[in-house]
Amino acid sequence: MTADPASLVVLGASGDLTERLLLPGLASLLAGEGTRPLQLLGTGRSERGQDEWRDTVRKAFDDAGATGSEAAAVLDSTEYLQADPTEKEDLQRLLDACTGAPILYFALPPTITMKVCAVLEELELPEGTFLALEKPFGSDSESAAELNRQLVRIVPEERIFRIDHFLGTDTVLNLLGLRFANRLFEPVWNAGNIDRVEITYDEDLALEGRAAYYDSAGALVDMIQSHLLQVLAVFAMEPPASLDPADLRSVMAQVLRATEVQGGDPVAASRRARYTQATVDGEDVPSYTDEEGVDPSRNTETLAEVTFAVQNRRWAGVPFVLRSGKALKSNRKNIVVTFAPVPSLPRGLKGHAQPDRMVIDLKQHTVELELTMNGSEDPFTLEQASLRTELRGADLTPYGEVLRGILHNDPTLSVRADVAERCWRIVEPVLDAWREDRVPLDEYPAGSDGPSSWS
Ligand code: BG6
Repeated sequence: MTADPASLVVLGASGDLTERLLLPGLASLLAGEGTRPLQLLGTGRSERGQDEWRDTVRKAFDDAGATGSEAAAVLDSTEYLQADPTEKEDLQRLLDACTGAPILYFALPPTITMKVCAVLEELELPEGTFLALEKPFGSDSESAAELNRQLVRIVPEERIFRIDHFLGTDTVLNLLGLRFANRLFEPVWNAGNIDRVEITYDEDLALEGRAAYYDSAGALVDMIQSHLLQVLAVFAMEPPASLDPADLRSVMAQVLRATEVQGGDPVAASRRARYTQATVDGEDVPSYTDEEGVDPSRNTETLAEVTFAVQNRRWAGVPFVLRSGKALKSNRKNIVVTFAPVPSLPRGLKGHAQPDRMVIDLKQHTVELELTMNGSEDPFTLEQASLRTELRGADLTPYGEVLRGILHNDPTLSVRADVAERCWRIVEPVLDAWREDRVPLDEYPAGSDGPSSWS
C-alpha cells in the first residue's frame, strides 16, 4: 500500500449512510490492518458542531474497537465542514482543507452527484484525486452513461470507484473459493445440473426514516438493480484467469451482458408489492404509504422479485430469481441453488430423492448442502440430511473491505463503468412495465412473508 497521506472527504456526511455503514467500515479497517495516513473530513449542507461530528466518529471507532494510535490520529484531526459542494467556492474550500490526496466520497443522490461533478470539471484538482461514488449510479442507463463520461473528464478511469458493498461481503467473496477451489462444484455449476438459482435479500427493517431516498428508488433499484445483480455476476461468471481487477471485472461484465429479463417478458417475470400497517413484535408499523415523506402516488414498491435468464451456453434455461423487500417476517438473505433431480434410482430404494440444494447464507455466514441419504432406521429408505458449515466471519465489514480497495488503489471490488450502465439496461424493461402499471402492485402486511397470493 502506498504510504502517501490521503484525505477522505465524505460528501453528504449528514446522511444515515455515514453513521450506519461508512464510519463502522473505516473503524473496522483501523481496528485491524490499518490504513495509510488518513485525514477524515465530513461535509454536508446542514450545520453540525465539531464536537457532535467528532463524537459520532468516536462512537463508531469505539464500537469497532479502533482504539490504537492510528485511529486516535484520525479522530484528532477529523473535522466537519459545512459546505454545499454544488457551489464552486465551497468545493474549492473542501479541497484546500485536504492535507493528503483527496478521495471524494459521494454519499449523495445521483442528481446532486452530477451537479458536483460539473463543478469539479471547472476546478484544478490536486494530484492523485480519487472519486468514490455510492449507488444509485445515475437513475437510468442514459444518465449512468452521462455520469461515466463526466467522471473521466475529471480523473482517469482507474481513479474512479463505483461502490457496491455487496462485493465486499465475505460470503459473496467466499463463492470464489467454493466454486473454483473444489473439484466437486465447478463441474456441476451449469444448466445441465442446476435447475434454479434464487438470490433473496429479505429484511425485517422497514423504512427507517429513509423516505427521501427510498421513495424514489424502491426495492428494485435499491437492491436488485445494484447489489443482487452483482451477486448474480459472482455466482454465474466464467472462471477468471486471476483475481486481478482486469480479469475478474471482465468475467463479471461478460455474464451481465448475457443477463436479461426471463423470456423478454417483464410482466410475466416480475412481481411487486408494498407493505401495509401491522403490529410486529408488539410494535406498530404504519403502512408504507403513511410513512413520513412517502408520496403514495409514486407507487413505490417495498418488495420486488424479478426472474432473469443468463443467455449463454452455461446457463441457458436456468431461472435466476432475485428478490428483496422490507418489513418482512424473516431476515432471509441467501443464495439457494436447486440441483436437477437424478435421472434414475436403483430399484428397491424406498422414498424420494429430493433435489439437492445448496444454501449460502449471506448474513449467517453458513453454507449448507441438503442431500438425500440412506435412512437412519431403514437403510433402504431415503431421508434428507444436511451438511452445514459455519464460515469464519470477516474482520472487515463490507464497507471496510471496499474502503480498503480505495485506499490501496485496487479497483477489484469496484463496479466497472460499463457494468454500472449494463445493470440499468437489464432492469429497464421491468421499470417501464411497472411505470405503465402493467404489473399489479400487491400488498402484504408488515411482518409477513409477503403477499399471500405469492406463496
Ligand atoms: C443498502 C440499501 O445499499 O443495502 C438498504 O440501500 C439495505 O436499503 C442495505 O438495507 C442492505 O445491506 P446490509 O449490508 O446493510 O445488509
